[in-house]
Amino acid sequence: MKPLVELHVHIEGTLEPEMVFDLATRNNIALPYASVDALRELMEFDDLPSFLDLYYECCAVLRTREDFRDLMLAYLRRAAAAGVAHAEIFFDPQTHTLRGVPVDDVIDGLLDGIAAARDDLEVTAGLILCFLRDRPVAEAAATLESAAHRAGDLLSVGLDSAEVGYPPHLFAEVFERARELGLRTVAHAGEEGPAAYVSEALDVLRAERIDHGIRSLEDPVLVERLRREQTPLTICPFSNVRLRAVADLAGHPLKRMLDAGLNVSIHSDDPAYFGGYIDDNHREIEAALGLSASDLDTLATNAINSAFITDERRNELL
Ligand code: HPA
Ligand code: ZN
Repeated sequence: MKPLVELHVHIEGTLEPEMVFDLATRNNIALPYASVDALRELMEFDDLPSFLDLYYECCAVLRTREDFRDLMLAYLRRAAAAGVAHAEIFFDPQTHTLRGVPVDDVIDGLLDGIAAARDDLEVTAGLILCFLRDRPVAEAAATLESAAHRAGDLLSVGLDSAEVGYPPHLFAEVFERARELGLRTVAHAGEEGPAAYVSEALDVLRAERIDHGIRSLEDPVLVERLRREQTPLTICPFSNVRLRAVADLAGHPLKRMLDAGLNVSIHSDDPAYFGGYIDDNHREIEAALGLSASDLDTLATNAINSAFITDERRNELL
């Protein structure tokens, strides 16, 4: 069995309700939830924006470098227990800098957590700085400049938050600048937005991986291109069900995507909100779709091949 490689997880989406309460106490923040259970009961979503409202609200408890360290270390402990050997992890700096947290505190804290895990857990990890696409483009550009001196500490930039109405081309110059800084590029596209957003992310942003991309199936020409170019698509089954992009796991398009020869792999998105981590996603989607041993090997191999790692590390994982 090959190890798991996590390519689509938002660190803020690993903030478990218990930790929301612990950090609120540590930072003297009054929460609008009566209890951990009351918070958990709010985790019923109609769509991506309704989820994001709660996700950003909970982020208010993250204030200090130590908070970000603890969040990262807790996630990597859980990931290691799931069998993850390598993780490429999104973070949303604007969510924190808009509340007055210095971007260096966010990055330093996340790196502290990664360093602690590397010693204890033998998990390697890297950071993907995501821009919030539903905020002004100028804010994304300023965020990138504010973190430019940390480019050596980052793997890639990404694009997330509410998708519909915020097409990828808006961020063309920001992604161009990220490439100048030596960063790789990924983008969420085709989660709730149309297949055309996937094409734009490829053509205009030159995204090297597409996060989600499930709506690509609506465009046969795009599907053929994704197959030919073997563009990695990071698929998050629990997320798609909980945000009602698909009705249930049995109706998830993953098997159709595999059968179409697309480079898909399974990931967790926001595991604290969507009912489970990467191991849970694998177990339940395998059962729901009746995936074969060869499908499972393909999924694991795709994830390893799609990671931004050295050939040496890739060969260790394969
Ligand atoms: N989609 C888009 N943006 C996000 C998500 C997601 O599932 N989670 C956190 N930011
Ligand atoms: Zn995501």
